[in-house]
Amino acid sequence: MEFPRIFMFSCCALLLCTTLAYGQATSPPAPVAMIPTPTPAPAPAYINLTALLSVAGPFHTFLDYLESTKVIDTFQNQANNTDQGITIFVPKDNAFKGLKKPSLSNLSGEQLKSLILFHALPKFYSLADFSELSIKGPISTLAGGQFALNFTDDSGTVHLDSGWSKTKVTSAVHSTDPVAIYQVDKVLLPEAIFGTDIPPTPAPAPAPGISPAAAADSPSEKSKESSSSPETSPSTSSSHNIMNLGIWRQLVLAALACGVVLFC
Ligand SMILES: *[C@@H]1O[C@H](CO)[C@@H](O)[C@H](O)[C@H]1NC(C)=O
Ligand SMILES: *[C@@H]1O[C@H](CO)[C@@H](O)[C@H](O)[C@H]1NC(C)=O
Ligand SMILES: *[C@@H]1O[C@H](CO)[C@@H](O)[C@H](O)[C@H]1NC(C)=O
Ligand SMILES: *[C@@H]1O[C@H](CO)[C@@H](O)[C@H](O)[C@H]1NC(C)=O
Repeated sequence: MEFPRIFMFSCCALLLCTTLAYGQATSPPAPVAMIPTPTPAPAPAYINLTALLSVAGPFHTFLDYLESTKVIDTFQNQANNTDQGITIFVPKDNAFKGLKKPSLSNLSGEQLKSLILFHALPKFYSLADFSELSIKGPISTLAGGQFALNFTDDSGTVHLDSGWSKTKVTSAVHSTDPVAIYQVDKVLLPEAIFGTDIPPTPAPAPAPGISPAAAADSPSEKSKESSSSPETSPSTSSSHNIMNLGIWRQLVLAALACGVVLFC
């Protein structure tokens, strides 16, 4: 009377083995061979700076300068270089409008180019990197060695000092390696162009009644600052577990089949 039992067990073992083998053989779906469409290699994220800056901001004045000085090519080339990357500080259109004292209008072409290059660092820096940068002293910009910026990190707020311009990062427009674009309040004026004879900054007197639009601008600016935060990329979920489900389902089915066979 033992024979049927042994037979059942053998059947079960055989069933389990075959299902397991079948599951392993099929679980990573075998790539269909000889299909001409090549699997697309994970393309390095190409960031089109022109496209990005033309929709954010408004940064039209800065973008116009970038294009007229051809500095956009230097920036884009640096952005394409995924080893180094780029960090750009972009003043909003308002910042150029508010620029009265040293005018940009009588700068030579070469000076204007340097001024625009002065707005970028030849490396990607996340906002968190600036606390480290602030202890390093003056940081060279893309405009060259004597065109340097000082950074200070004030509990998460990044302040920039060019000598002439003291400003801060008010918003992270884009911050994913290799491209960081941060909005700043002011145009960065380098000492290397305007000299070290910096006039004392007069407190900007609010002119009531003259420009309601400009006055209305400051509170909105404030709220932007408080809401600004570096972008976080969504974490990618692993598809590994989903793949394994196939095997498990087959094992469970086999076990069920065994149960049925044994109890019959
Ligand atoms: C980048 O974007 C601009 C504006 O959208 C477009 O004119 C230009 O052709 C783009 N460049 C590349 C290389 O895709
Ligand atoms: C940057 O890369 C894009 C896409 O590969 C290319 O079309 C563009 O010409 C490159 N630009 C520069 C300045 O290297
Ligand atoms: C621009 O013009 C002002 C006077 O209008 C002058 O003081 C200044 O040096 C000029 N700047 C340059 C870079 O030529
Ligand atoms: C940057 O800081 C150094 C001291 O660490 C100072 O000598 C220099 O003048 C500063 N430069 C600017 C542009 O603020």
